[in-house]
Amino acid sequence: MNNWLRFSTGFCAVTVWVVMLVLPVQAGDISKGQAAEFILATAKAARTVYVQDIISNAKKGGVKPNEDWAKADHSVMLPAQFVKAVGSKVKGFELGLVGTDPLYPTNSPKTDAEKKALKELASGKKDVVTFEDGGQTIGMSADFAIVDGCADCHNQHPKTTKKDWKKGDFMGAIVVRMK
Ligand code: HEC
Repeated sequence: MNNWLRFSTGFCAVTVWVVMLVLPVQAGDISKGQAAEFILATAKAARTVYVQDIISNAKKGGVKPNEDWAKADHSVMLPAQFVKAVGSKVKGFELGLVGTDPLYPTNSPKTDAEKKALKELASGKKDVVTFEDGGQTIGMSADFAIVDGCADCHNQHPKTTKKDWKKGDFMGAIVVRMK
């Protein structure tokens, strides 16, 4: 029994050591591409909750998403503004959106590599892509019109170049750009 106790204590000590040694190495091993994927997954989940739970419930009380939400009564920010606002509170990376037919030129893919990645996502073969581009790690996650409201608002916007968006369409991507 004594031997068994000695063996188990020794075994536990070795296990703790191995875990302590291996864990930091593993944490350090996370690539920038993986970090970009985690950031995108979190940003996308937050945006989905904002659209499906917060905006849809607020509408019952007459509160709607409005581009000029800060000045208008009974208004909350647009989903795209929500993603950008979250990104603006974090240092070290930029969070935004790019569109296939963007309302604003600032939401166009910024480089040839981003254009190529957007096409790859549009083809439906992948949901997320990460790549190195001009000294930055870029991650892009496919963005679809998950509710009718996405398509309706974009179809009616004064700056739109496309008026036949419908629910389910691929509209662009949530993008993270990390130095
Ligand atoms: C009430 C209007 C409205 C709704 C609802 C809305 N959007 Fe937008 N969306 C906009 C506006 C306006 C912009 C540009 C905002 C900016 O960049 O400041 C934008 C930007 C975007 C962009 C970046 C490309 C572009 O068009 O400029 C994507 C992609 C996008 N929205 C997808 C969606 C999706 C997906 C949904 C639903 C989950 C959605 N939008 C809901 C108005 C809306």
